[in-house]
Amino acid sequence: MSLFRTKNLDQMMVTSRKPGGLKKVLGPFDLVLMGIGAVIGTGIFVLTGTGVVTAGPALTLSFVIAGVCCGLAALCYAEFASTVPVAGSIYTYSYVTMGELVAWIIGWDLLLEYGLATSAVAVGWSGYFQSLMASFGLMLPEALRAAPGALPGQHTWFNLPAFCIMMVLTGMLSLGVRESARVNNIMVVIKLGVVLLFILVGARHVQPANWHPFMPHGAGGTLSAAALMFFAFIGFDSVTSAAEEVKRPERDLPIGLIGTLATCTVMYIIVTAIMTGIVPYAQFLGIDHPVSLALQYAHETWFAAFVDLGAILGMTTVILVMAYGQTRILFAMSRDGLLPPRLSTVHPRFGTPFFATWIVGIIFGLLSAVVPLGVLGELVNMGTLAAFCLVSVAVIVLRKKRPDLHRAFRCPGVPYVPMLAIAFCAVLMAFLGKTTWMAFLAWLALGLVVYFAYARPRSLLNRA
Ligand code: ALA
Repeated sequence: MSLFRTKNLDQMMVTSRKPGGLKKVLGPFDLVLMGIGAVIGTGIFVLTGTGVVTAGPALTLSFVIAGVCCGLAALCYAEFASTVPVAGSIYTYSYVTMGELVAWIIGWDLLLEYGLATSAVAVGWSGYFQSLMASFGLMLPEALRAAPGALPGQHTWFNLPAFCIMMVLTGMLSLGVRESARVNNIMVVIKLGVVLLFILVGARHVQPANWHPFMPHGAGGTLSAAALMFFAFIGFDSVTSAAEEVKRPERDLPIGLIGTLATCTVMYIIVTAIMTGIVPYAQFLGIDHPVSLALQYAHETWFAAFVDLGAILGMTTVILVMAYGQTRILFAMSRDGLLPPRLSTVHPRFGTPFFATWIVGIIFGLLSAVVPLGVLGELVNMGTLAAFCLVSVAVIVLRKKRPDLHRAFRCPGVPYVPMLAIAFCAVLMAFLGKTTWMAFLAWLALGLVVYFAYARPRSLLNRA
């Protein structure tokens, strides 16, 4: 039964309020900007190219499906985040409700999701950055442009820009949340400006004839694209991993989650409709800068360059928030004794988990430099969908187990809304590839080995 031992919720609330913990500096506006910072990035700027080819103009519908899936999960997240406002997000919530083993699995899963997402986005960043530099005639030596084998016919061995951006952002995060949040806010505003610019400039060039046929690859194509474009929404949940640093979590966390998701869904639908309205969908085949391509196609070359710049900034903030979320999960797992204690030391001057931040930055920085990450978007999606299923189950379990708890935000329609969320996630997971399933299961198996060999005997609950 000790596999299912749970943490004492009331005691945890006390721990999170003890002095000497993380600084409480974030408000609702910071959270929405943080959410948008994590969400709008590689998904819309890079992956829509593949998405459009898969679904045709019906990609707008794919975004609606993925968005509804996230929205249902967000309602569950919001209830938990407003009830259990401590660092670690879904990992912590499942520790309270479903016990240590499930919490470990989900924490392990999230380490992969956030980590690979930062690496994948850093690779996307590097591509856009190099293309912008190339327009000024600046080129890196071939060996330093990408990971080994990433570019066919080229002898590349290290993605230097991806590694560098990871190191710069790690440095920022390790020096303090407040400072990073401020830089993040400025970059998010610029990113939103660029997306709005695309909408204003692009709308003039839309040819409605390009929207026919609307669904060239049928419902299957639309759902496959939804499973892929789910990536574009990933990150809104990272808002919850900041719970312990929020001033008024009961009110601010639900605002942060739902606000982020609503804003992004609307923007994605409009941007996709305009893209497919300007360029016939089949022409996006193999294109890794689909948004700026649409403006180039409409001979708006200057605006296209602005979009490139916005994409670079956009992806910068995604990496920042994802890396932030990951260090906080490491922090929580280490504080519970499941990972080495060094990972939950707080720097005396900066008030941040300095050591954990650098460990994560260096590992995933190196991965972004030496691993070609073409298919890893799918793996990230798989991990996240699994996490969403668990949080939905956890909402139902906690309502049964602790009906007495104060919930500042209550998910409507429990248990039906959480069950619908699980159904949506299951459908999207079914549309991910076999290799993705195998890689995901292998990572989970490794996690179980680490749990029984290291974490379980050292767990604080065990010692207690
Ligand atoms: N949602 C994030 C992006 O699109 C991960 O880059």
